[in-house]
Amino acid sequence: MNTISNALAIFCFLLMVPPALAQTVDPESWSPTWINPAWERPANMIPDSAISLPGDLTVDQLEQPTLCGGCHNDIFEQWEGGVHANALNDPIFQKVTKLFLSEVGTEGDREDARSCVRCHTPLGHLSRAVETTEADYDRVTLENRSGIFCDFCHSVKSSAGVGNAPFTVSIEEAAEAKKIKWGPRNDAVSPYHGTAFSDLHTKSEMCGMCHDVTHTLNGTPLERTYTEWREGPYNTGDPATTVYCEDCHMRQLPGVPATGSTERPDNPGISGSGGKEREHVYTHYHVGGNTVLPALFEGGEQNVQMAKERLQNCATLEITAPPLPLIWQGATIHVKVNNVGAGHYLPTGLSEVREMWLEVKVKDVLGRILLHSGKVDANGNLDPQTRLFNIQLADSQGNHTFNVAMPDHVLSDNRIPPKGSRTEQFSFLVPLTGILGYTIEAALRYRSAPQSLIDDLFGEETFPLPIIEMASAEAAVKLVD
Ligand code: HEC
Ligand code: HEC
Ligand code: HEC
Ligand code: HEC
Ligand code: HEC
Repeated sequence: MNTISNALAIFCFLLMVPPALAQTVDPESWSPTWINPAWERPANMIPDSAISLPGDLTVDQLEQPTLCGGCHNDIFEQWEGGVHANALNDPIFQKVTKLFLSEVGTEGDREDARSCVRCHTPLGHLSRAVETTEADYDRVTLENRSGIFCDFCHSVKSSAGVGNAPFTVSIEEAAEAKKIKWGPRNDAVSPYHGTAFSDLHTKSEMCGMCHDVTHTLNGTPLERTYTEWREGPYNTGDPATTVYCEDCHMRQLPGVPATGSTERPDNPGISGSGGKEREHVYTHYHVGGNTVLPALFEGGEQNVQMAKERLQNCATLEITAPPLPLIWQGATIHVKVNNVGAGHYLPTGLSEVREMWLEVKVKDVLGRILLHSGKVDANGNLDPQTRLFNIQLADSQGNHTFNVAMPDHVLSDNRIPPKGSRTEQFSFLVPLTGILGYTIEAALRYRSAPQSLIDDLFGEETFPLPIIEMASAEAAVKLVD
């Protein structure tokens, strides 16, 4: 039986209440959410294989990233300021989880809280360094092995499937007692460690282990980035033409966003001192849309800039406006949002929290505002009428709720599918001046969470979340051109 129930905490994150649903779980039992059919499995996705469990590793069995960085300097620098490196240090994650831990009552609930750490601090989880008490989250013993780091990903030998973290970490030695690092090459030779080819590492299923999160009590999808990709057009079924997660997220460099709508050029060179010259060396920034988290950590400035570049190269807007209307009549304009660059839905991941919205302004010839949708008020909150592209979840009565104590189903999902689009319409009344024409400005904006949520979580120490403009368009309707 699968026991991960991140839903509970994510919902607590949103509601700030303990989950109503008490459950007893066995933290030692883990299993994938699902398994790909045989013909589309990477060679080392092995159904029913034993996955790694708490207690399987001691902290020192996985090596320090700084050690790897001694030879793999570029890769180390790319990873260091990123979201993976800081997945446990993430203050938003910490606040949410500590709150969860402080509010749960029963021993069963506390054990349940262990589930969060499996993806956010895999070594903390497998070594039992980070378990169920609040203090665990402040431990420093993991040093920079606290998040998702080199030796974790490269000691993954196989996976048992997709979703809810079904990884098998294996410390194995090659000749001369050199520990094996699994990677994408079958001809890599390192003076320091053994190497072995892993098909999994070259495919989306590597990322899909963690980037596919399901509520295990009732199967409500919470984060389905891998599934969205798998069912979308970037997965052609043919490895020669498929665009894997790695093809977008591990080809990005500063100034090279590497999205579905931009070039994804090779990055030729060597991956580590003394290594072979390669046509392409996979980069390790692993940048998404988060401009908040990297800004808090040393070396993160570049990742912030790269997240902006990613967000600014994945959507386009098209405005359609009717001919000049009669005075005092209503006019309706359409704004189409195209997902041209994301390999999954836009937005993806924690899409019940992320905010992506349209701001649309219509002005008459005198510059007076006829319509303004998607305004942000002085406190940073969005106008309730704003057209947001997100997921809303519902309880068993069908009411929209963030309380996933009993998440029952997805109420609505109006995000934009990969290579797909959505069209929103906006109506307004045309005053006397409207007969001379009007102008339309539309912008697509992104924020990692509602401002009010951060204000609630951080209290006095709250900070304004950045808002990124992803795309914009303008149009004018005039009496005479
Ligand atoms: C199966 C893997 C997995 C598990 C288990 C998991 N998460 Fe996550 N979590 C993720 C991934 C992947 C992301 C990044 C998604 C994105 O950026 O949209 C994430 C992102 C988050 C974020 C957003 C962080 C930010 O700064 O924006 C929070 C908060 C969070 N998780 C809380 C939790 C809590 C609390 C639990 C335990 C109840 C949990 N997660 C369990 C995989 C997991
Ligand atoms: C003494 C230098 C050195 C150190 C230290 C080092 N590596 Fe390497 N590593 C290399 C070289 C050289 C290669 C071969 C590169 C090539 O030929 O493309 C390599 C290759 C790799 C590969 C590719 C394997 C494959 O088959 O695809 C991975 C993964 C890897 N290293 C991970 C690590 C990790 C993780 C650490 C830290 C625990 C580390 N390395 C430490 C030098 C080093
Ligand atoms: C989230 C998991 C993850 C983390 C963390 C990670 N890697 Fe990797 N790494 C990968 C994957 C996946 C590939 C192969 C991509 C492909 O072939 O599509 C890879 C490729 C490599 C390669 C071979 C590159 C090439 O093109 O030949 C080296 C060397 C390497 N990683 C070293 C490191 C080092 C050093 C760190 C830490 C600073 C690190 N990795 C952190 C997942 C990870
Ligand atoms: C061990 C689990 C794990 C694996 C494997 C993993 N990730 Fe992640 N990833 C996470 C978690 C957890 C977060 C969120 C951390 C946070 O926000 O605190 C994350 C964050 C990210 C982000 C940043 C999201 C944002 O909002 O900016 C990207 C992009 C990403 N991962 C891509 C990948 C890719 C590509 C792979 C495969 C090569 C991969 N990940 C493999 C767990 C994992
Ligand atoms: C065709 C290119 C492409 C592919 C393929 C792709 N992505 Fe992305 N990804 C993007 C772009 C562009 C963004 C920024 C827009 C956004 O946030 O959705 C992004 C954002 C993300 C985010 C951050 C979402 C958020 O806003 O919190 C995560 C996490 C992520 N990708 C993971 C993955 C994983 C895992 C895969 C494979 C299953 C994958 N991506 C495949 C282009 C791609």
